[in-house]
Amino acid sequence: MRPSAAIIGWGMAVPQLVVTNDDLAQRMETSDIWIRSRTGIAERRIAEPHEYTSVLATRAAQQALERAAIDPQSIDLIMLATCTPDRLFPATACTIQANLGLTRAAAFDLAAACSGFLYGLSVAAGLIQGGAHRTILLVAADLFSHILNWNDRSTAVLFGDGAGAVVLQAHFGPLGVLSSVLGASGADEAIMMMEAGGTRLPLTPELLHDERRFFSMNGREVFRHAIREMGTSALEAVAAAGLTTAAIDLVVPHQANTRIIEALARRLNIPLERVFINIERYGNTSAASVPIALCEAADAGRLRHGDTVLLTAFGGGLTWASTVLRWGS
Ligand code: UT7
Repeated sequence: MRPSAAIIGWGMAVPQLVVTNDDLAQRMETSDIWIRSRTGIAERRIAEPHEYTSVLATRAAQQALERAAIDPQSIDLIMLATCTPDRLFPATACTIQANLGLTRAAAFDLAAACSGFLYGLSVAAGLIQGGAHRTILLVAADLFSHILNWNDRSTAVLFGDGAGAVVLQAHFGPLGVLSSVLGASGADEAIMMMEAGGTRLPLTPELLHDERRFFSMNGREVFRHAIREMGTSALEAVAAAGLTTAAIDLVVPHQANTRIIEALARRLNIPLERVFINIERYGNTSAASVPIALCEAADAGRLRHGDTVLLTAFGGGLTWASTVLRWGS
């Protein structure tokens, strides 16, 4: 019998600094009412210089390891989903490995923007099911505050910084990841991107003052694609698990916009009471958004042993992903 990958520990870490909509309204032409009504966001956490990606990622990972209550040395792989690493080279997952002293673990980063945690979950589940690894630490961390154009109100108000983590372990029973559906559309990459800073358009002194070194997004296009692709992949993942949406106890979606989440719930025919939303306090934390929401849902008692959970996300690439899992270990 092939094992499934069960979540046996979960953790999260966010910066201390809370930045409210009113704070942002002091430095750009926006308002609390606009941000709340168009996105559902009330405040977000913004990292200070000492809180770089590996710092938050390590804190989230430590919490997940404590909850898992296993010998940390049994971790045999660390994956970090991020598109805002400490450095471009080497992988920030290696820094987490060193911080935690997990000397037995292999380590690599994975870049799928806001879908990164669910891409990672699918890869981890496959490695566990195939027998290559038994216990995997999957971390997702993004600090968009470092890549945002703070002069662009249409993107600057949407994101926050944070990290989430889970420990996955081989499980011989009914729990764990039941299905995953991943998708991408590279042809639409320009809808959300950071044009400069890589090998294609390397940073020069001139480019330091150019908008192309920051994240940019066509919000309306993203909105349209997000509803379509999250909805379709979620339905595919539910069907692949041999279920219907009536069997889903809780949906934990990527937290990018309350209106996107509401449209998704309508498409899935799942009432909002069965959808977890915490965007109000964190904004869009990119790859960290699903594990942070999962963590808060678990801590709030919204996830009981044996519950069927649907996770879905959408992000740059474009990429999207949906996973169905049975909660518990
Ligand atoms: O993780 C995936 C990444 N991102 C997303 O999923 C985001 C998806 N997109 C969205 O959430 C929405 O498209 C936004 C929240 C970004 C924008 O909402 P919208 O309802 O599509 O607004 P809009 O872009 O059509 O802009 C409407 C108006 C514009 O003014 P005019 O042209 O109608 O006069 C904007 O200039 O709102 C203006 N506006 C703002 N006003 C106050 C844009 N940003 C702001 C702002 N404050 N921060």
